[in-house]
Amino acid sequence: MFQVIQNSFLFTIFGASGDLAKIKIFPSLYALATQHRLPKQYFIVGYARSKKTNEEFRQEFRESIKKYCQKGSKIAFCNEIIEELLSHVFYFSGQYTELGDFERYFEFLENLSKKEGGGPPETHITYFSVPPSTFQPILQNIAFARKSREDDIRVVLEKPFGEDQASAEQLFHFISRFYDEKQIFLLDHYLGKTAVQSILTLRHHNSVLNLLLEGKNIASIQITAHETVGVEDRAGYFDNVGLIKDMFQSHITQLLAMITMSIPIKADEKSFHREKQSILAALDFTPKKHNIFRAQYKGYKDISGAKKDSQTETYFGAKLKIDRESWYGVPIFIRTGKRMKTKLTSLVVEFKKLPFQPEDTEPNLLIFELQPREMIHIKLLNQFGKSSEYHEIGTSESIACRGDDCLPEHSLLILDVLERNKLHFLSFPEILESWRVTDAILKFIEEKEIPLHEYNLGDHSPEGIQGMFQKSHDRWFEA
Ligand code: BG6
Repeated sequence: MFQVIQNSFLFTIFGASGDLAKIKIFPSLYALATQHRLPKQYFIVGYARSKKTNEEFRQEFRESIKKYCQKGSKIAFCNEIIEELLSHVFYFSGQYTELGDFERYFEFLENLSKKEGGGPPETHITYFSVPPSTFQPILQNIAFARKSREDDIRVVLEKPFGEDQASAEQLFHFISRFYDEKQIFLLDHYLGKTAVQSILTLRHHNSVLNLLLEGKNIASIQITAHETVGVEDRAGYFDNVGLIKDMFQSHITQLLAMITMSIPIKADEKSFHREKQSILAALDFTPKKHNIFRAQYKGYKDISGAKKDSQTETYFGAKLKIDRESWYGVPIFIRTGKRMKTKLTSLVVEFKKLPFQPEDTEPNLLIFELQPREMIHIKLLNQFGKSSEYHEIGTSESIACRGDDCLPEHSLLILDVLERNKLHFLSFPEILESWRVTDAILKFIEEKEIPLHEYNLGDHSPEGIQGMFQKSHDRWFEA
């Protein structure tokens, strides 16, 4: 039996007609329902501009869950559960920029709880499933239209936060005018992945890992985030953004922080955020042309929404460093790309060899495979029988959920919001630090006119990325 959410709540989804809502949010709420975690009294309200009835909205909700379950998810489709869930689902049509529509919306909510009984819900979660350009008007309109300043309103915003450090800072000032920091949940869905959360959990509970994860023992850290999907119908958005902002700025810098940060003694959100910010503040790259690699997949420019002469990268590699004595001389190699041969997100720690070990022996590796498989591996060398040759042995263990405990990332994060737990969310200062290094890389690319290479669809890894390895024995270690 899973723990049932204690408080009654209202869950508003702004942008309820959009893809994020259909692909991620509706199925995540359903996943919570399948584990019988939802309380007796709750309302899920879709807010979007298009006109539709409750019934039409419920039908879209139902369809998106059906699609999700058919797509090989671990969650099975159950008609009874979905119909019970849908009896809590409602729809409201309004503009994002009209204060009057928000005033009507708050009236609607009041009437809803009166009509359905049970009194006003204790917590109001507002989930922003909308383009970032609409964050500010919605934030302001909620703040002006809400009936009472005492309401427990929590705001969930999903990355990207701004377009650079300056605009992120402006956004945070704007938010602070209307809300307390404790009401704001800044979401990067990578932090909701159980395998990603395991990095910190394993480090926090196992001294053997932390003793090893010190710069003096490490030859390199390598992060890979390859996807098989391309840009498809998101080119209108993606072409102005590029992969450095889309994947590196938040997802990859967060993975990097988790493996390199100091582990705080207290496992609370404040201590984690403090340490994460501190390591991100030390993250840097050496401005040398060979430390950056950019490429675009063939045919990208022909996608509808992409410019015919687009210089937007769909592949990005970089060599980074941490400006701290304890990490001196440890290169961090990252690579991320779309339309690759296989989907893989992994984090590899390459350990230094013993001083007397021959150059050509394999190094020890600690590998976190984060997706699609969720595994930790340790690679060691051993001699078998009388053989004088060393063989690599691996020890592997699954690091994600077990049995029927599995929940998709957005479900786990929604639970965290309801429990007011910000451990797996971002903090303003962390975001500003990751923008600082992202901005520096982008400026360098522009000033030095770093070329944009081309790669074939389904490449394992574009060839040119090897140029990042200046020392001849450096190479990518595959998970
Ligand atoms: C999103 C990016 O944040 O993450 C997408 O905007 C990318 O471009 C996606 O495809 C990758 O997420 P995941 O969970 O599939 O690795």
